[in-house]
Amino acid sequence: MIILGIETSCDETAAAVLQADKKKGAKILSSVVSSQIKTHAKTGGVVPEVAARMHIENILPVIDAALKKAGKKLHNIQAIAVTSGPGLITSLMVGVDTAKTLASALNIPLIAVNHVEAHACSPLIDKLGTKNQELKNFFPAVALVVSGGHTDLILMQGVLRQKKIGQTVDDAAGECFDKTAKILNLGYPGGPLIAKLAKDGTPNIDFPRPMIASGDFNFSFSGLKTAVLYYVTGQRLNVKGQRLKADIAASVQQAIVDVLVIKTIAAAKKYRAKTILLGGGVAANGSLRERLKIESKKLNVNLLIAKPEHCTDNADIIAFCGWLHARKKDFISPFKIQAQSGWEIR
Ligand code: KG4
Ligand code: ZN
Repeated sequence: MIILGIETSCDETAAAVLQADKKKGAKILSSVVSSQIKTHAKTGGVVPEVAARMHIENILPVIDAALKKAGKKLHNIQAIAVTSGPGLITSLMVGVDTAKTLASALNIPLIAVNHVEAHACSPLIDKLGTKNQELKNFFPAVALVVSGGHTDLILMQGVLRQKKIGQTVDDAAGECFDKTAKILNLGYPGGPLIAKLAKDGTPNIDFPRPMIASGDFNFSFSGLKTAVLYYVTGQRLNVKGQRLKADIAASVQQAIVDVLVIKTIAAAKKYRAKTILLGGGVAANGSLRERLKIESKKLNVNLLIAKPEHCTDNADIIAFCGWLHARKKDFISPFKIQAQSGWEIR
């Protein structure tokens, strides 16, 4: 089966072509991402209307480029998978409308993909054949999805058999990275900039680890961001000093990583997980990847982390998650599909 994946939930317009084989599993033939980061950097964050306009301009050229790179024509595509939520409604509508029009015109199946579910399954790309035997080895699994909009812990009893066991009660981990970067005047998006600066710093500032001992699997990051703000403004520190900025970056990164890792390991213990899955934009963070590697090894649990190019938004993970649904014939009519900005995994 050849699947076209489409992603427009936030500020990346992306398309990918995936070839799936019953025995060999899934193979990405092409992947194209048109990023709007330069535009949104000027405003320090995504302006939804601007993002939607750019998606409209970019969507067909991006799909065309993905098809060309894969050496395929539109009539070779056998199913279309599109992110239908969660995300910015006007951004989602561009992808969903394009996908439903193409699926309808080509008379091929359409798959509505949940963006968070796609991030959760993303470490399994290249891992899954279709033999049940093979799949069973990974489950039960605990997936940590950490992005600009989400910080979710998900229990997966099998492929697409998931239940959310924890989430952030306020800001997402990525948001905390982005807002700290804003306070430090580093630019947008903040995650990679904080991570880079943290390498030159020492984590010697004792920022809070919110909800670390709450006994559940929920998170909270807005207090941490406020603590950084107080530290910077309240003490009238000269944050122009590169050294101090680097220490703040290293300290806030360590506080975020501490909470994420401790809660994920606790969830893996409680649910006797065989595997920990890590996906989403923040999963690109070297410190988080490293710490989770060390702790999962201690627990003797398998760790699968999404490849760096599958962490931030892309359509490979949408096509892959679409294929998992297609195997169950979980299709949707082009007349029924809708963009759902608040579509949560339950
Ligand atoms: O998954 P993603 O591309 O978009 C959403 O679905 O939200 O995630 C974007 C988030 C941003 O908050 C960005 O700052 C963060 O991922 N991010 C990182 C790193 N690379 C991206 N955070 C920490 N360290 C990184 N290396
Ligand atoms: Zn994402």
